[in-house]
Amino acid sequence: MELTLLINPNLLDDPSDFMIFVGRFHPLIVHLPIGFLLLASIAHFTTRWPKFYAIKPFLKYLWGLGAISTALAVVLGYLLSLSGDYNDNTLFWHKWSGVVVLVLALICYFISKKQSENTKPTQWFLIALAIGTMIYTGHLGGNLTHGSTYLLEYAPNSVRSLAGLSPKKETIPKITVLDSADVYLDLVAPIMDRKCVSCHNKEKKKGDLELTTYANMMRGGENGEVIVPGDIETSELFRRITLPENHDDFMPSEGKRPLTTQEIALIEWWIASGAPANGFVLELDSQKIITETASNYLGLDKHAVLSKKVPPANQSSIDSLRDQGIIINRLMKSNYFIEANFKLSERLITDKELALLQNLKEQLIWLDLSNSELEDESLQKIGQFEHLIKLNLSGTAISDKGIVHLKTLKHLESLNLYDTDVSDGLLKLIPHLTRLKKIYLWQTKVNDSVIEGIQSERKNLLVVYGRE
Ligand code: HEC
Repeated sequence: MELTLLINPNLLDDPSDFMIFVGRFHPLIVHLPIGFLLLASIAHFTTRWPKFYAIKPFLKYLWGLGAISTALAVVLGYLLSLSGDYNDNTLFWHKWSGVVVLVLALICYFISKKQSENTKPTQWFLIALAIGTMIYTGHLGGNLTHGSTYLLEYAPNSVRSLAGLSPKKETIPKITVLDSADVYLDLVAPIMDRKCVSCHNKEKKKGDLELTTYANMMRGGENGEVIVPGDIETSELFRRITLPENHDDFMPSEGKRPLTTQEIALIEWWIASGAPANGFVLELDSQKIITETASNYLGLDKHAVLSKKVPPANQSSIDSLRDQGIIINRLMKSNYFIEANFKLSERLITDKELALLQNLKEQLIWLDLSNSELEDESLQKIGQFEHLIKLNLSGTAISDKGIVHLKTLKHLESLNLYDTDVSDGLLKLIPHLTRLKKIYLWQTKVNDSVIEGIQSERKNLLVVYGRE
């Protein structure tokens, strides 16, 4: 019944597929000969002492089991090798040392069957040779599946140097600012390492493609180059990571975790920018297309204001401000950041109030001064509230003279200048506010052409111009 199942051509849609299917049991089955041969050799060894003489009659069965399971592992291993996914050189030695183990196991079987006393010294030699060869074969097998660097990757450097390996790779220091981020080392390589290298390395070169280094990536795979600098359309690698997940060619294959949209965007930008081997992200991305994604990917946003540990705000300053009708709120439970809102005051903001705010500048991240009688000079003080993320100056009389003082607000993400006297002096400010994501410019004196200029230069900056 089972035989008909195997032979029935309709059930075997592709015989070579079937052989590989069976072959993939090899890594499971190899544990049998390892167990049996070790057990047989230990048992054989113990029979040197009279106490264990009783085992002698069973030795031949143990060696027999060892030989049969070795034969099975050899056959399955051969079928698996037909998939052609393995390093040729390692495979050659693994295969033939496996065959040697089989031959030695058979010899041990016949020796133990004969039980002749005078073969003793040769018998110990053969057993030692069988076990030694088995360990060597197993080691090569491990190299084939995990790569030759796997075993000693985390070994102490002293052990690595005994094995002739270089000291452990220094982990690349964690980038803390985007200015030092390298396009290949910090963006592309980590993505490949995490999602692709397990199948595309020196030993397991699927599709004859190695994705371990820049040079190997550019060399391509069995169908030629996979990255065409500057051309995402014809870059096979990009095509494969953007196919529908159930497509045959989709990478990573076999249901491994696919790239995130963020990772795909980084690869896309890298290839489109000419797939350079190195270079600073900030310099290559003069258009600021990918800068935000990159800093997000590198976890650099975590270094922004909100991850800082600030002490609790000075309560007496808060109380004094509240007495003046100014709204002060703590924004989050997990830290002490606050907002200050002068909305209800609608009057001149005094130096005294600014001085009180100065006491809170570490905690102050949102400041709303809209519709107050704010003067240009006051902005000098506000420029010192360096943790500000959101600043609303709408409906005030401030002008270009005042806003130059805001250059220092490196964390500012939202700036509302709606209904102010600000004009083209804005051009001098914008380049300093690198984190700015949103700016409100309706009813200002800023020229249309200036606004267009800002918009085309800063793709990630939303310019709100007009009634929303
Ligand atoms: C689970 C194993 C596996 C993983 C993980 C994997 N690949 Fe592959 N890859 C393969 C196999 C198998 C082939 C050959 C069969 C084929 O062409 O689809 C291949 C082929 C390719 C090819 C075509 C090479 C050529 O010249 O034909 C590209 C490009 C590729 N992979 C890119 C990637 C990228 C990029 C990743 C990471 C996002 C990745 N692979 C992850 C198994 C894998």
